[in-house]
Amino acid sequence: MEKNMHTVTWSMHIFVTIFNLLQLQVFTLADRGTYVPSENIVINCGSSASEVTEYDGRNWTGDASTTKSSQIAEAPGIPVSVPRVPYKTARIFRSQFTYTFNVTPGPKFVRLHFYPASYLDMDVSKAFLSVTAGNFTLLHNLSVSLNTDYFHVAYLMKEFIIHVSGSTLELTFSPSSNATAAFAFVNGIEVVSMPFSLYFRCLNAPLPLVGHYPALYYICNDTAMETLYRLNVGGDQITPKYDTGTMFRTWEEDDPFIFGGDKGIEPINMSMPISYANGVPPYAAPKDVYRTSRSMETFKAGLINLNFNMTWFFPVDSGFKYLLMQVLIQ
Ligand SMILES: *[C@@H]1O[C@H](CO)[C@@H](O)[C@H](O)[C@H]1NC(C)=O
Ligand SMILES: *[C@@H]1O[C@H](CO)[C@@H](O)[C@H](O)[C@H]1NC(C)=O
Ligand SMILES: *[C@@H]1O[C@H](CO)[C@@H](O)[C@H](O)[C@H]1NC(C)=O
Ligand SMILES: *[C@@H]1O[C@H](CO)[C@@H](O)[C@H](O)[C@H]1NC(C)=O
Ligand SMILES: *[C@@H]1O[C@H](CO)[C@@H](O)[C@H](O)[C@H]1NC(C)=O
Ligand SMILES: *[C@@H]1O[C@H](CO)[C@@H](O)[C@H](O)[C@H]1NC(C)=O
Ligand SMILES: *[C@@H]1O[C@H](CO)[C@@H](O)[C@H](O)[C@H]1NC(C)=O
Repeated sequence: MEKNMHTVTWSMHIFVTIFNLLQLQVFTLADRGTYVPSENIVINCGSSASEVTEYDGRNWTGDASTTKSSQIAEAPGIPVSVPRVPYKTARIFRSQFTYTFNVTPGPKFVRLHFYPASYLDMDVSKAFLSVTAGNFTLLHNLSVSLNTDYFHVAYLMKEFIIHVSGSTLELTFSPSSNATAAFAFVNGIEVVSMPFSLYFRCLNAPLPLVGHYPALYYICNDTAMETLYRLNVGGDQITPKYDTGTMFRTWEEDDPFIFGGDKGIEPINMSMPISYANGVPPYAAPKDVYRTSRSMETFKAGLINLNFNMTWFFPVDSGFKYLLMQVLIQ
């Protein structure tokens, strides 16, 4: 694995709760208790007003100024199912444009929000963009409309996990080509810090490289990751407002990812009290993640049911390494 600064390791984070297994010490972290992010920056790109949203309670700052290389625009005819903040307005780029954020050094979530629309009467299917964060390439030649069409969704959110070593974070957006008609856009940007050792535990937490035993892999400050799937097994979607640790993560339901008909059974008791085990900080995952699960039936005479397999199916790109994280309960 090259660990040069220009390499992006896109990783997958599947948060799975599995019933009746021992606590996996994934979250034995130095940080204890609650977590309050030192940065929680939310930008409503292209908007002239700052607005507190109903769904996450944050004050999304407008950034309406136009510049030589960018314009602002509104999405025409946005459906009611699409949150107006941050998707109604956008910043349109015809050449390279950099957002500079003053931050504390450390690991950050960077979330980019996109809603494909015919801004300024332009053909959104012609918009291809690349995004860098310092020396990391986060997106290369992304077409928002191809992605939303493929996944049958109205809008797109891309979440990255990077480590910032200095006191500024530069996010640079550029159209993929320098052709005169080329353009790109972005609707919303979030920069949210996270506990130091949530992912970047480097030499303290070697990870097994599946299929390459006994090789180990280390996630250090020079690794960048993209979250592909974060699932609440057997439960409903948990929106950013209800995430623990004020990190505003989204936990999706896992039903669409179950392969085949065997979904196990879903023992649900939403009034079950949850106490975080020793070594598991509450910000690891919200309590509701632990309250639902899938089980391959109950243990029978100490044996787990061997009559079927439960399989989750995740489309991924080849050429990257993937990290699978589980949040387990006892
Ligand atoms: C939201 O932020 C803007 C700009 O920083 C500020 O003027 C406004 O008072 C804030 N609104 C609330 C409800 O905090
Ligand atoms: C990673 O960055 C943190 C600061 O965010 C620093 O304390 C630590 O020493 C760095 N680790 C390495 C291996 O550079
Ligand atoms: C980015 O890469 C350049 C050239 O490889 C290097 O000099 C610089 O220190 C790097 N910047 C950061 C923030 O790592
Ligand atoms: C970007 O992707 C499009 C569609 O796949 C392709 O036609 C175009 O050549 C790509 N541009 C770059 C700069 O890679
Ligand atoms: C566009 O032009 C700029 C400035 O000449 C250059 O740095 C950049 O690499 C070009 N981008 C592409 C995709 O050709
Ligand atoms: C749910 O959990 C609570 C608290 O442990 C318990 O009192 C209740 O009987 C449980 N309900 C079911 C249906 O198991
Ligand atoms: C479950 O998966 C294992 C490993 O792929 C396989 O050996 C076994 O036959 C499967 N069991 C069933 C019931 O399909």
